[in-house]
Amino acid sequence: MTAVVSRGAAAVRSGPIDDIFTTLARRPEVISFAVGAPDPALLPGELVASLAADVVAQYGTSALQYGSTRGFPPLLDQAQILLRERGITGPAGLTHIATGGSGALHSVCMALLDPGAVVLVEIPTYGPAVKVFRSHGAVVRGVESDMDGILPAALDAALAAQQVAMVYLLPTFQNPTGRTMPTARRKQIAEIIVRHGATVVEDDVYVDLRYQGNPLPAFWSFAPHNTVYITSLSKTVAPALRTGIAVLPENLLEHVLALKQGIDMQTSTFNQAIAAAFLRSAEGAAHVARAIEKYGAKLAALTAALHRHMPSGFSWTEPEGGMFVWVEGPADFDAEKLIGPALDAGIAFLPGTMFYAAQDPPRNGIRLSFANVPSSEIDRGITVLADLCAAR
Ligand SMILES: Cc1ncc(COP(=O)(O)O)c(C=O)c1O
Repeated sequence: MTAVVSRGAAAVRSGPIDDIFTTLARRPEVISFAVGAPDPALLPGELVASLAADVVAQYGTSALQYGSTRGFPPLLDQAQILLRERGITGPAGLTHIATGGSGALHSVCMALLDPGAVVLVEIPTYGPAVKVFRSHGAVVRGVESDMDGILPAALDAALAAQQVAMVYLLPTFQNPTGRTMPTARRKQIAEIIVRHGATVVEDDVYVDLRYQGNPLPAFWSFAPHNTVYITSLSKTVAPALRTGIAVLPENLLEHVLALKQGIDMQTSTFNQAIAAAFLRSAEGAAHVARAIEKYGAKLAALTAALHRHMPSGFSWTEPEGGMFVWVEGPADFDAEKLIGPALDAGIAFLPGTMFYAAQDPPRNGIRLSFANVPSSEIDRGITVLADLCAAR
């Protein structure tokens, strides 16, 4: 029998990423700049094992029980501390714990998007989010952006031209470009959002991975009543904890929690208890500091290798944090055509085409993720990439 799938499911297609990940699973020797995942050597295995034992000792079997949909109270307390450091000082009651940033995005989409609703995104943007929006029946439109993020005049015009359900922004260490929206642009965009009465979803899962420069106030702090703020412990602690934090405008929280009950009841109590213990502990802070140091060194090694090896006509971003560098070739360069030869030559990357809402996106971009690549292989991997780019 062939199942008749929903329109939302039919609107979401898997792309070249599946071939890349199938190959990576078969050939672990491939140097992969493809996945935005932490370095396995920087996942805190021993610390999590000891915190898990502490959690069971402290809470007994209640750590294995269902709990509140809004979140495990000790983790909500830790979340308030973490959010305050980012300039997010709203009332505690508007925060909830989600199953990763992905879980938060899904429930917020359920609350905000009807079929046909318009979602505005940056150009380029985080590709998987576009799929989520489409799975909810949304029409996703890109808005012109530059190296400082979405362009104020273009956003203003797009909001004036149509009814918009959501504006999805990644102001800090954007996936895929690594770019960060400066404070002045955040203020400009916030003014436009508030003037139009629009709703922003600020996806901020990389903010703690800053290697240079000073932290910026979250976009939320300039438009708190119009912004859903989403962050996650996946990049600094461990993706498998599936722990995200969301801050919602007052009228949304009740709806999102009611919807979350239907999605997954709640985020794992056990994982939340471990996450709370991690955030409370000095060892947790030391772990994050060590990760920042190592990833910063990897980013420096990557940009040095790009300078050393890439042929002329190629340029790239030099972010202050996060996990990604975006490379652009000449206008006639087609990164997708390089995927197969790159895998044959022992490297993987994601083509930029995966990060646009448009049907016919520019083909000359490459996303390089450096966090997961062993330091000793960065230069060799970029040599291979540069040779392929030069020979295209
Ligand atoms: C921009 C962005 N948002 C959200 C997520 C999802 O993270 P989580 O593991 O918290 O669901 C990712 C993961 O790669 C991401 O890059």
